[in-house]
Amino acid sequence: MALLPILTAPDARLKKKAKPVAKVDDGVRSLMADMLETMYAAPGIGLAAPQVGVGLRVIVLDVAREGEQKAPMKLANPEIVWASDDDNVYEEGCLSVPEHYAEVVRPRAVKVRYLDEAGAEREVEAEGLLSTCLQHEIDHLDGILFLDHLSALKRNMILRKLLKEKKRGDGKDKDAPADSPQHTL
Ligand code: NI
Repeated sequence: MALLPILTAPDARLKKKAKPVAKVDDGVRSLMADMLETMYAAPGIGLAAPQVGVGLRVIVLDVAREGEQKAPMKLANPEIVWASDDDNVYEEGCLSVPEHYAEVVRPRAVKVRYLDEAGAEREVEAEGLLSTCLQHEIDHLDGILFLDHLSALKRNMILRKLLKEKKRGDGKDKDAPADSPQHTL
């Protein structure tokens, strides 16, 4: 297993649509394992392959609370096959948008079809944090960041700050508001 470098916005590779996995083979399983290790180390509760520069439809997540037993999920080709009509608001963060958080509105519940690490087709019905996290990670596979759900004004403000931090090269924004983030997805 290996820790993978996580891309941060703005980066063209985060805006690309990822390709479906043809077969869940050892290469894909090894990618899933590396992604999980990278996610736990970050730390975050979700990670999508494009965030580590791999253009495949693979996501990993673990929304277990601190102190609870780990509950890793590894999904290939995840697809939302149903979404509730009612919405939910959640303050989201993202490992590719370090130190910025914003409220995002998404369907409250979803049903997701995917291939597990053995290549078997499965479905999961989710609400709460798992629903938010699944939708956030599947967005990554289509080149969508949580920033894209915000107003252009807010999005551009955050992107400008991220660009400035990148140019400075320290990856930290010392003027960032002292938000107390709940989760980085
Ligand atoms: Ni993210």
